[in-house]
Amino acid sequence: MSEPFRVGLLGHGTVGSAFAALLSERADAIATATGRRPEVSGVLTRSQGDFDDILSRSDAVVELMGGIEPAREYAVRALEAGKALVTANKQLLSQHGDELLAAARAGGAQLRYEAAVAGVVPVVRVMRESFAGAHIEKVHGIVNGTTNYILTEMARTGASYSDALEHAQRLGYAEADPTEDVNGKDAAAKMAILARLAFHASVGLEDVPFEGIEAITPDDIDYAKEFGLVLKLLGVAERLDGGVSVRVFPCFIYGGHPLASVVGPFNAVTLESPTITEVTLSGPGAGGPQTASAVLGDVVSVMSSQGMDLDPIEELRFIPGDEVESAFYLHLEVADKPGVLAQIAQVLGDNHVSVKSVVQKGMGDNARLVMVVHPVAEGRFNAALREISKLALMRSAPRSIRVIEEEFTS
Ligand SMILES: NC(=O)c1ccc[n+]([C@@H]2O[C@H](COP(=O)([O-])OP(=O)(O)OC[C@H]3O[C@@H](n4cnc5c(N)ncnc54)[C@H](OP(=O)(O)O)[C@@H]3O)[C@@H](O)[C@H]2O)c1
Repeated sequence: MSEPFRVGLLGHGTVGSAFAALLSERADAIATATGRRPEVSGVLTRSQGDFDDILSRSDAVVELMGGIEPAREYAVRALEAGKALVTANKQLLSQHGDELLAAARAGGAQLRYEAAVAGVVPVVRVMRESFAGAHIEKVHGIVNGTTNYILTEMARTGASYSDALEHAQRLGYAEADPTEDVNGKDAAAKMAILARLAFHASVGLEDVPFEGIEAITPDDIDYAKEFGLVLKLLGVAERLDGGVSVRVFPCFIYGGHPLASVVGPFNAVTLESPTITEVTLSGPGAGGPQTASAVLGDVVSVMSSQGMDLDPIEELRFIPGDEVESAFYLHLEVADKPGVLAQIAQVLGDNHVSVKSVVQKGMGDNARLVMVVHPVAEGRFNAALREISKLALMRSAPRSIRVIEEEFTS
């Protein structure tokens, strides 16, 4: 048997400790498969270990500390020293991806980050290896398990957003401070990583506008059921005429969409390309053992690969949100008087917004119009909304949520 493959472990928390345990459990099998037995050469936490010492005794470094500093500094130093780096750190990759790739290039080292995106779902590997020959047009998915759990609960039980969040916290699906999950920032970091891979280009967190689920109400989820729609927080990275768009927003999808059946804390990502049509991958989005398994997969990949497989850099134009076309669900609380629908239809028509389906709900003070409109430039739709909100017949501000029209029924 050859020399052991020495892994320096930075961080020994939820994922780090699960990784160390899994590595020792799987070491013999990996040795049989790769010819080298992996072993942990040193562990760094706030209270133990020395980074320089661990680096000098490692063939690869696994970063499971989280946060930006000192994770960034250690990652760059490891790569520049020619040591493979495996990380699950989405913040680091989405904010310093270019710097990490440059360090990997400079050191001739491999960089792997499967666990940073959709937990155990192997979307990074599929994109960089299986679909390396495909021109990916669109990647979209549910990349945050906390929000998917909350939305699933709201749809299932009619619970309010805050009650569903509290429930998620009790079950450990949401952290004590869930801000970056519920406001869409966590998903935006993951979409920056996926868009970089899909478009072979520099994409950072600052390129990804994001909206969260805090303002979603159970009645919108309920009304939209009548149109066959299910609400999800989606990350969408797509090539459009004249550039790309990478965004995160809550949106409705039709029941036949492959992402519609992804419930609870699960993640799923759909890849679309003319050569592969579409492929959806799904599985648990987080959890110590699950994430550790994805990290160990990367370590084995590093042990069995030669050289680097770094992405070429393509220049991208990010299309402003106002120019991107989307369909919308629209909820209007209106006065129950003759001519209301005609006035609203007039404003929509003036702004080139065309209605796909509409239902009228309630009567008197409780009257509301719920509709789905065909895809239109978001700037035009928002202009129509501004005009509608000024109409005397409106009883409250209009509420709108994007709709993804693809039905995948054929
Ligand atoms: N938890 C999940 O389900 C999950 C899923 C996907 C990705 N991730 C990612 O995996 C990474 C680790 O997450 P985790 O949940 O395992 O975190 P965690 O439980 O908070 O553990 C962090 C570990 O890093 C160490 N650490 C933090 N700052 C340090 C510093 N300045 N110097 C030395 N050691 C330091 C901590 O040391 P002490 O023990 O001394 O505090 C601890 O051992 C993060 O990037 C996270 O985003 C986690």
